[in-house]
Amino acid sequence: MFDFAPDPDASKADLYRDLLSAADALTAGEPDGVANMANVAALLGEFLPDCNWTGFYRMVNGELVLGPFTGRPACIRIPVGVGVCGAAAQSGETQLVEDVHAFPGHIACDARSRSELVVPIAKDGVVTAVIDLDSPKAGRFDREDRKGIEALAAMLTGRV
Ligand code: SME
Repeated sequence: MFDFAPDPDASKADLYRDLLSAADALTAGEPDGVANMANVAALLGEFLPDCNWTGFYRMVNGELVLGPFTGRPACIRIPVGVGVCGAAAQSGETQLVEDVHAFPGHIACDARSRSELVVPIAKDGVVTAVIDLDSPKAGRFDREDRKGIEALAAMLTGRV
C-alpha cells in the first residue's frame, strides 16, 4: 500500500517538495510510462487543492492525445497550437492562464474550469507530453505552482 498523504498544514513549497518526492518514489525504476502517468495524475489530484482536472496529454503522431488523469472525461485529441495544451506543446513553454475565458482558443473540456497551468515535458528539446492542471478558481495557479510543476516535468523526462 502506498501512503503519500499531503500534509494539510504544509506551505506550498513543502507541498511541492513532498509531491516530487512521492512522484520520484513511485516512478523511479518503473519503465511503464502509462503506469507512471497514472500514479502522478493521482498524486496531483490528492496533493493540489482546488483542482477539478489533473493529468497528461501525450504527443502521438504529431497531435496531443489524452493520457491518464483525474477528473471528468475530457477531449481526446488536441491539435498542436490549439488551446492551452496545444500552445504549450507548440512553444515548449509553460502556459499559466489566470482566466481561461480570456485565452483565445481555450478548449472547454469541463465548463467548471476557470484557470489552468500546462507544463510541457520535453526530451532533447522535443515535447513528448504535457502536464495539465485545471481549477474552478480564477487565478488558482501562481509562480510557485509553475516552479513546482516544472520541476515535476523535468523529473518525469524519460519516465512517461
Ligand atoms: N482546456 C484545455 C483542454 C484540456 S482540458 O482542460 C482537460 C486546453 O485548452 O488545452
